[in-house]
Amino acid sequence: MNYDNVMKLALERGFYFPSCEVYADAQAGFWEYGPAGVGLKNKFVELWRRELVRRDNMLEIDGSQIMSQSVFEASGHLSSFADPIIKCKNCKSTFRADKLISDTTKIEIPESADLIDFDKAISENNIKCPSCQGEFESSRKFNMMFKVGIGPDGEPAYLRPETCQSIFVDFPRLYKTMRGKLPIGIAQIGKSFRNEISPRQSLLRLREFYQAEIEIFCNPDKLNEFEKFSEVQDVLIRIQVDDTPKQMTCKEAVENGTIPNRFVAYYLGILLEFYEKSGIDIIRSKFRKLSEKEKAFYAEVAFDFEVETTAGWLELVACNYRSDYDLASHAKKSKEKFEVMDGDVKVLPHVFEISMGIDRSLYSILEHSLRDDKENERIVLSLKPYMAPIHVGILSLVKKDGLKEKTDEIYQAIKSKFDVFLDHSGAIGRRYRRLDEIGTPFAITVDHQTLEDDTVTMRMRDSMKQNRIKISEIESYLLKETSYP
Ligand code: GLY
Repeated sequence: MNYDNVMKLALERGFYFPSCEVYADAQAGFWEYGPAGVGLKNKFVELWRRELVRRDNMLEIDGSQIMSQSVFEASGHLSSFADPIIKCKNCKSTFRADKLISDTTKIEIPESADLIDFDKAISENNIKCPSCQGEFESSRKFNMMFKVGIGPDGEPAYLRPETCQSIFVDFPRLYKTMRGKLPIGIAQIGKSFRNEISPRQSLLRLREFYQAEIEIFCNPDKLNEFEKFSEVQDVLIRIQVDDTPKQMTCKEAVENGTIPNRFVAYYLGILLEFYEKSGIDIIRSKFRKLSEKEKAFYAEVAFDFEVETTAGWLELVACNYRSDYDLASHAKKSKEKFEVMDGDVKVLPHVFEISMGIDRSLYSILEHSLRDDKENERIVLSLKPYMAPIHVGILSLVKKDGLKEKTDEIYQAIKSKFDVFLDHSGAIGRRYRRLDEIGTPFAITVDHQTLEDDTVTMRMRDSMKQNRIKISEIESYLLKETSYP
């Protein structure tokens, strides 16, 4: 199944749709999650908390989306967080230089390359404006932060372009009040905002998007003294350094220098385990080590976690070793102290981050889970049961003869414990098909036999098999089948 199939499902079944769509001035790059999308997102976030945040006793915070100018002067975003753009001399249309070049010539130039590289590719390949065939002005950099004005005088501030800046700014307070000890992970989920020139492909390039970021603060002298590494040393990962990805264990990757130390390898290992549990087909995934030109300005070493889809390889997570770049910059600008004690030693911690794009992850889970079951003439979203927006549908075969009342009784008994969809009307086959399409792993049907022996049918989404079970066993059955791994 491809991007268009996922898009159709998203629009028809309430996963996501364009924001402000009833108005002609709706802007590109803003999308809304409908009920099924929110359900999936909530399950994904809960899995993230279980598998990453709670696994290592990390702290989670919830910071402001609007942050002061000083934050971004210190972080470097005001000077360096910019996309290369080109403007048509004739019709004034603006394009992202790297995207236009790759779309028209398949030549990939990293977005952080020098401006001269874009101008050269445009002139050598005779690239013209796609709208009017006009010539381009020289390329220039466009800062991608959204500026806002605070109060009547419009004091400048910015919508955060990454959630992690509040983690860095709050670090001294958090370390002190939470009695921190290195290494320590601080996590945050929330919206970030980037004024993309070419937002496109729904959830894949948004201007307002969800991030789940984890910043792990560590003593840079202890990156190989990391006992927990043994938990992942045998995890197989695919890593691409040059042209071809190679499969190896985390242990081999550290030993042969592909991953710089055990500390970084541990987090790549647990990230992969997380994605496998989320429903991503990890055979179609890789960690790609970024070149000097591709890395973000704050990163010393960077691996992107990428997943193959019909829309191409998507970067779902940026794993950046940011060194002391952020803490040192905020210490200098704010004149506050960001050093902490690690035993008897005073250190300015280094940071490794796992910066996850939630929207793209959800898209990839949908694409990897969607299948066309031609034999049974149905579309099935084979989500892991614990990831499903709706765990179980409860259906009365017909409304009459007291079946509706019996169905309502079962619904009332379990609705606070599971995500349940109650349905009394329509042909039963079509109702099952609709539940299959939003990934509901189980459907309970109340029929005339239920009134005689207090049993219902329990239908399994993937196999379409139906078993009869007692009403008194429904709760324990669903609890077992839908709990997180
Ligand atoms: N914090 C890293 C990023 O937003 O990509």
